Amino acid sequence: MWGGRFDKETDLGFLEFSSSASFDAILYPYDIKCTRAWMGALGEIGVITGEEGDSIARALDRVLDELDSGSFSFLPSDEDIHTAIERRLVELAGPVGGKIRTGRSRNDQVATDMRMMVKEACARVAGSARNLQSALIAQAESYIEVVVPGHTHLQQAQPVLFAHALLAYVQMLTRDMELLSTAADIADVLPLGSGAIAGSGFLIDRQSLADDLGFSRVSENSMDAVSDRDFVAAALFAFSMVMIHLSRLAEQLIIWCSQEFGLVRLDDAWSTGSSLMPQKKNPDGAELVRGKTGRVLGALVAMLTMLKGLPLTYNRDLQEDKEGFFDALDTVVACLRVMEGTIRTMTVDATRAAECLRGGFMTATDLADYLVSKGMEFPEAHRVVGEVVALCMREGKDLGELQGNDLQAFSELIGPDASGWTTPEASVARRNIVGGTAREAVEAQLKAARDMVSGGANPV
Ligand code: ARG
Repeated sequence: MWGGRFDKETDLGFLEFSSSASFDAILYPYDIKCTRAWMGALGEIGVITGEEGDSIARALDRVLDELDSGSFSFLPSDEDIHTAIERRLVELAGPVGGKIRTGRSRNDQVATDMRMMVKEACARVAGSARNLQSALIAQAESYIEVVVPGHTHLQQAQPVLFAHALLAYVQMLTRDMELLSTAADIADVLPLGSGAIAGSGFLIDRQSLADDLGFSRVSENSMDAVSDRDFVAAALFAFSMVMIHLSRLAEQLIIWCSQEFGLVRLDDAWSTGSSLMPQKKNPDGAELVRGKTGRVLGALVAMLTMLKGLPLTYNRDLQEDKEGFFDALDTVVACLRVMEGTIRTMTVDATRAAECLRGGFMTATDLADYLVSKGMEFPEAHRVVGEVVALCMREGKDLGELQGNDLQAFSELIGPDASGWTTPEASVARRNIVGGTAREAVEAQLKAARDMVSGGANPV
């Protein structure tokens, strides 16, 4: 490809070190589309003839078939997918095949391929995230009656609807989709026409090239266009956020299905046993999701680190944008699928949920609110209820088990109606505020989520 000024062949070890063909071959569909569009643009301005364009197009079809069917054979001298395709084109069509390089560099070409891929990748991840959302929504609907302990600091805090907890993850994923959509938009700029660094010497119509390749705008600075990989980092950030939310969900499931909690049972098809302990059923799927999060975060950090010291413009470091991104994409899609299956098939133990609500004084805030409703200042109410809780703890009783007289000793404002405030159901029902855990508020949240998901359109 550059033999003219060289006296020696490339060292084979070095060639192997520097070649990206083993991992960038998956860019071939984009690379071929990109080359077709470039040929069209060169044809428009008369740099190649119609006949030349036709024979290149025919040869490109063959190359595409070979790559699709797996019969394409790579040579050790193929430095990357772009060189491999050009080499094969020349083999098939003769020297005219080499015209695909006219006015174009691998620098603007690889940036174009990667942008096309990143746009599709963001849409794919968003589609899988949407499927997980629909599984969460379906389970929130099935268990809309179930009240469970809600935690802060992993200490029992206040009763909440189980559905409310599941819908929290739907919200997280909705924000992730906004990030994915932004990342896809950042990638939606055509670099082709930037040449190696200074802009192509052939004055093709870049806007119509962008239209051909599905880009909504063209880059405005060729030096930036060939050296920018911000769009890969942005997509990796969005993937990382998805993984962080998946990891949180995984951790939550692991806790919920431990014997100590026992709120959730995973389906046999989505859990594993132990080779030694016959009684075991383990949440390996959730654990692997939590574990694989590190790979995706690692890809983001590697990407940012690779970029941070680069002078203008293209540097070979940029080739390192690929493996981490491809691996992160496969990982996040696989993790979303596993979480979807796990969530869709899990069951919730409502009896155990009721058991968990006993003890723990999770309605202490409600008793304080009751006192506020009788005219007491909240700080005073907080102190009084704190004393009530201390008594309960000494006597091994639950809040609801104290008699009216016991309570009145703490404040004469406490009447017989106080007991109506301290059941978990009453506590949940009082929180009928937008975003709150009352049944009606959660139904509203559920409806909005259902409407969003049933739209059917890919969010990105
Ligand atoms: N394989 C290279 C990459 O992914 C393509 C660009 C090579 N350009 C060059 N000037 N060596 O970045």
